[in-house]
Amino acid sequence: MRLGPVMVASGCGGTGRELAAFTDLVGLDFVTRSITLDPRPGHAAPRVVETPSGLVNAIGLQNPGLEHFLATELPWLVRAGVRVFVSIAGATMGEYADLARRLSRAPGVAGLEINIGAPDQAGSDLFDVREPYHAASVVGAVRREFPGDLPVLAKLRPDASRIVEGARGVVDAGASAVVIGNAVPAAMPDGRPGGLSGPAIGPVALRCVAAVTEALPDVVVIGGGGVASEQDARRFLDLGARAVQIGTALLHDPTTVARVRAALTREEDPA
Ligand SMILES: Cc1cc2nc3c(=O)[nH]c(=O)nc-3n(C[C@H](O)[C@H](O)[C@H](O)COP(=O)(O)O)c2cc1C
Repeated sequence: MRLGPVMVASGCGGTGRELAAFTDLVGLDFVTRSITLDPRPGHAAPRVVETPSGLVNAIGLQNPGLEHFLATELPWLVRAGVRVFVSIAGATMGEYADLARRLSRAPGVAGLEINIGAPDQAGSDLFDVREPYHAASVVGAVRREFPGDLPVLAKLRPDASRIVEGARGVVDAGASAVVIGNAVPAAMPDGRPGGLSGPAIGPVALRCVAAVTEALPDVVVIGGGGVASEQDARRFLDLGARAVQIGTALLHDPTTVARVRAALTREEDPA
């Protein structure tokens, strides 16, 4: 499975058009924001607040729904030469299966990323996958509907206490790789559930990646959380991650993916 070494994390590259001015999109592994069957307006503003070392977001998975995505955003990304990984989120197992079935027929989809770790699920009516057993059921339902030769990535929350169990469950259920991980459960200043991302969560994600690569050395791991530089990316790769995802850093500097990608490629390919 060809991956990365740098990927755009879900929800942080917009529709792709926003990045085009800053990054060569051709061949870039791009994870879309999470797409649901029906359009979602997202949560009320404010949706993003800065903290001293990262962001808390309560976007509420705002997205235009599958039909609109298939008609407009996906064809644009495919024409731009991006390798499109569609992130999917559902309220039920049936919804996840339906999304996978319909995306399996969409031209240009390189793979799926299953969002089974949204940090603000409590307030977002998504399928509750806090239990590793439930996460594995969702992956199994998606895998049955999606072509076996295309990758299905399972995105987990960096939960240091149960991450190995979660990773083992989703891989046994058919995930091609685990993405570790999503934003960490946090609260907006008014107490609404949200997710903390950026530099603050880097060490948390690193611990989870280290635990999984050590316990499950055959599992393909994609690391992420707070990556903003080549050095940050190297930490994950040195622990055995196959690729890294970059999210929040793009909101500060949309050239981050291009910069880190160029630096890593230079290192891999000394003259
Ligand atoms: C504004 C924003 C929107 C996000 N939207 C999604 C999303 O739609 N689906 C998803 O799986 N993760 C989403 N994430 C989580 C990121 O993809 C990423 O996993 C997380 O922020 C940790 O990486 P980072 O520290 O590099 O941002 C979002 C994060 C942010 C900051």
